[in-house]
Amino acid sequence: MQLSIVILAAGQGKRMNSDRPKVLQPLAGRPLLGHVIATARSLEPTRIEVVYGHGGDQVRAAFAGEPLGWALQAEQLGTGHALMQAMPAIADDQLVLVLYGDVPLIRRETLAALVALAGPDAMSLLTVELPDPTGYGRIVRDAAARVLKIVEQKDATPQQCAIREGNTGVMAVPARLLRRWLGQLRNANAQGEYYLTDIVEMAVAEQVEVRPLVAPTVPEVLGINDRLQLAEVEAEYRRLRARELLQAGVTLADPARVDVRGTLVTGRDVFIDVNVVFEGEVRLGDRVRIGPNCVIRDASLGADTQVLPCCVIESATIGANCNIGPFARTRPQVTLADEVHIGNFVEVKNSRLGPGAKANHLAYVGDATVGARVNIGAGTIVANYDGANKHRTIIGDDAHTGSNSVLVAPIDVGPGATVGAGSTVTRAVPAGKLTVARAKQVTLDNWRRPVKKPKEER
Ligand code: UD1
Ligand code: CA
Repeated sequence: MQLSIVILAAGQGKRMNSDRPKVLQPLAGRPLLGHVIATARSLEPTRIEVVYGHGGDQVRAAFAGEPLGWALQAEQLGTGHALMQAMPAIADDQLVLVLYGDVPLIRRETLAALVALAGPDAMSLLTVELPDPTGYGRIVRDAAARVLKIVEQKDATPQQCAIREGNTGVMAVPARLLRRWLGQLRNANAQGEYYLTDIVEMAVAEQVEVRPLVAPTVPEVLGINDRLQLAEVEAEYRRLRARELLQAGVTLADPARVDVRGTLVTGRDVFIDVNVVFEGEVRLGDRVRIGPNCVIRDASLGADTQVLPCCVIESATIGANCNIGPFARTRPQVTLADEVHIGNFVEVKNSRLGPGAKANHLAYVGDATVGARVNIGAGTIVANYDGANKHRTIIGDDAHTGSNSVLVAPIDVGPGATVGAGSTVTRAVPAGKLTVARAKQVTLDNWRRPVKKPKEER
């Protein structure tokens, strides 16, 4: 059967105490709903419908441009009512997989198994066995372990409350049957809501098979209602990603202190120290070492490159055998060739540094093209901004800039040129020569240091 996915995301999330709709709360830097959409997408369904309500415009705006259908549930009258809002967009020949926007760790493999279990004349249901299923609907089975119905906790008898198998809410149901059952829902229950879960009893009454699947792992079905649960799921996500890295052969100084908030591709024998955050798409070549307390976003680092402690690297393409930091920062659009050194308190922006170039201490390199083996002295500033516009600087191969020099852009420093320490250069610096642009040193032979006048007596 063809698959359509509906994600229920209209709940308010009052317990978050937030101005932000619950499904937009970030988990690993991405909205909860974004995680669910990505997993849904991986199943390649014919369509994905999101049922939204509270904070609707914000939710839609957050996913603008993505191929999604949106169904408004203006009033939150229950999960059955929510699903009903999406049904007009779904054809009868579809199998409908129901997901929750606040259950972000659900795994593709589990969903694929659940979908495979359902058929044109059978629905499937994802359940979970919990030591404490408080708050969950309970799965009521008969003596032969066939599912009979789901009872919400608020409607359950004490015996039913003792059941430890809970309803995850995730299910796969043929659209043709689902549409009819949703139309028959009534809200005569403890919460006065249209419960999606009531369709299970309807299926049983019509002898439509209800095939349960017990979730293989618990964290994947955990829903988020408050910030404590959000933090717990964040920790679980961190553990999952750390485990993937360890399995891929990466050494982690502490698997509990590395955050992968995006895609991280690693070579062999990579080492990552504590408190490192990866964002966006990051690639680390063989034997790369990342020191503690670094943030690395959208970057690629070549083999044997070392990042020393406390660096921030953003949108950079870094070659092999480079040394970065400690306390270095690259801002967007930086390309470093092989064997480049960027040292302490050096900031590089929108620049290209050639092979073997070095800026070892206290420098700013912005909008510059720097040749091979160039040595940027301590305290060198590329003054790229005149207060209105940015200008480019070109520094030829083997040039050296002395300590505390200012290169006022636009400027061209020729190959092999040397800029004397303390120079402010505003015109082209010729190749192969020493250029000095600072006040001449003088010594005044007759100068005497002033002395304090004796205090006058009154
Ligand atoms: C629901 C299930 C319960 C299950 C539990 C798992 C029903 C009646 N109960 O209970 O069996 O154990 O989830 O977490 O289905 N939503 C809407 N519109 C609504 C109501 C809910 O979009 O009118 C969405 C919420 O945003 C959320 C999901 O549906 O993503 C579940 O809603 P929630 O209120 O948390 O359901 P529970 O009462 O916890
Ligand atoms: Ca819930």
